[in-house]
Amino acid sequence: MKYNEINMEGINKLMNVFYEKIRVDKGELGEIFNSKVGTDNDSWDKHKAKIASFWQGMLLGEGDYAGQPMKAHLELPPFKRELFGSWLSLFEESLNIIFESHIAEQILSRARAIAQRFEYMIFEAH
Ligand code: HEM
Repeated sequence: MKYNEINMEGINKLMNVFYEKIRVDKGELGEIFNSKVGTDNDSWDKHKAKIASFWQGMLLGEGDYAGQPMKAHLELPPFKRELFGSWLSLFEESLNIIFESHIAEQILSRARAIAQRFEYMIFEAH
């Protein structure tokens, strides 16, 4: 059964599905993430827990995420702009596995808006 509302259980499942796709992605995302996050399951569990708390803050207005996402991305080694499209496709696929379509769409539009800001800051703001 897909989730018909946003809750932590769904967010955690989303993290599992999405980052399993990212970890094995052969189109550069895999390499970028594995070299930054690590390749062992412990490191990935920590990463997923951190990103889950980011989404908990975004979508539920709760939790204790206090990182600086923009800074984290500005500091990544250079990568192709098109990777934002790849990231969003994998995220969309994952959302559709976990959530009913109206919820998936709602979360996807938040992700698109954030991706657009990151992309602008990385590739256009000097
Ligand atoms: C091409 C697109 C993207 C790439 C290659 C990418 C890559 C990464 C990597 C490698 C990290 C780990 C950084 C570290 O541990 O220092 C990270 C962290 C993170 N990413 Fe992304 N990301 C992308 C897009 C996005 C988008 C669109 C979002 C949100 C909708 C997002 C949210 C985050 C957050 C919240 C963190 C944690 C930052 C922190 O507090 O340390 N990322 N990303």
